[in-house]
Amino acid sequence: MIHVCFVCLGNICRSPTAEGVMRRLLAERGLADQIAVDSAGTSAYHVGDPPDRRSTATAARRGTTLSGASRQVTLADFDHFDHIIAMDGQNLSALHRMVRSPADREKLSLLRSFDPESPPHAEVPDPYYGGPDGFDIVLDICEAGCVGLLDHLQQQLAR
Ligand code: 4NP
Repeated sequence: MIHVCFVCLGNICRSPTAEGVMRRLLAERGLADQIAVDSAGTSAYHVGDPPDRRSTATAARRGTTLSGASRQVTLADFDHFDHIIAMDGQNLSALHRMVRSPADREKLSLLRSFDPESPPHAEVPDPYYGGPDGFDIVLDICEAGCVGLLDHLQQQLAR
């Protein structure tokens, strides 16, 4: 089993979207019993809250179900997960400040780094204070990033 955790700031918009998209892709590819997904936030701003209703509505229109309650990332996540995948550079930096070892550091990456169409260091933009278009953009970006990530993980499983 490969364990993947997506991380954003609030764990109510971007990382639950990536988690929901990934779960849908895993079901489509018959890999749900080989790759487990979760999400968390670097902040505690929304701990216990469900995904933002704007994210949930955008995802639902596009066949993706968002679930879970916001939680803050912890050091224990570095023990449990094989891949801890940040939505932007700010959250990647926050995760880098938590690492205890090279092994911890190797688990970290940016979601868009798995999308071959994305430039280096590309981010999933924070939609929280923006308009409704931002949520569709996040969905598109998460879709492309998760397809690339899943291709990468499938190669890992085949080895
Ligand atoms: P997320 O979006 O990091 O994608 O979940 C945000 C949610 C809440 C806040 C910022 C970003 N906030 O400042 O409360």
